Amino acid sequence: MDNRPIGIFDSGVGGLTVAKQVMKVLPKEQMIYFGDTAHLPYGSKSKEAVTKFSKQNVQFLLKKNVKAIIVACNTASANSLEELQATFDVPIFGVIDAGVAEALASTKNKKIGVIGTAGTVRAGAYEKMLCALDGDVSVSSKACPLFVPLAEAGWTNNEIAHLTAKEYLQELLDFGIDSLVLGCTHYPLLKQCIGDVVGDGVTLVDPAKATAGRVGAFLAEHNALHDDAATKEHEFYLSDQTDMFSTICEISLEETHVAEIVDIDGISGK
Ligand code: DGL
Repeated sequence: MDNRPIGIFDSGVGGLTVAKQVMKVLPKEQMIYFGDTAHLPYGSKSKEAVTKFSKQNVQFLLKKNVKAIIVACNTASANSLEELQATFDVPIFGVIDAGVAEALASTKNKKIGVIGTAGTVRAGAYEKMLCALDGDVSVSSKACPLFVPLAEAGWTNNEIAHLTAKEYLQELLDFGIDSLVLGCTHYPLLKQCIGDVVGDGVTLVDPAKATAGRVGAFLAEHNALHDDAATKEHEFYLSDQTDMFSTICEISLEETHVAEIVDIDGISGK
């Protein structure tokens, strides 16, 4: 048994969609959420910048005495996970491997689509892992940057969201995909709209739930699950103020929380 919290970080508030799944799958666990809103977006930044910010985020969560860390951000998982795992002495989980396993389990025709930020698509992490695990799979990837501001504006299922989704996704449909990985924290918020555009023949894969399951399995295997039936108070931290926190909290978690603002750039060496 280990009653310390699980840390989760994202580039901002989109990672609350991952936090939601962790709360669902591991309801006894306490969670410390950190959103790096001061450096958002990660999706358009270099691997070096994303890795630097991600290291700061891990350092912050370690100061909160977490027993494991989930990199909710797909861009950080795709670009920085290996370096984080090599640098820090704490179990660190990304979202890519869980998304890959789900996509491989769901595809029948072995044509898989991956959508994410420019940084995630450029890193090619989903594509590399999918093809390494199944040589018969072919992958079509597409950066869909406008989905992020649409989700944050709450325009998740209106005409503009539909037109944007059609524009982005048509080439993946033409490619013949039957499975589509939602490779960005914000995209599950547009699930209905994306599902309408791609139709019933395409399974939408959200890596978050499977990631939470993997973390739970790891903790169980290491006898590190929280033993107390009483739910602990989750904690939320951001590196800059944003109105989006309460909006996404309500849409995603269906709960209200208050986030404390922290100086993340001052974290190193403290
Ligand atoms: N959280 C990021 C991701 O999942 C999306 C937002 C950003 O660009 O920072 O890739």
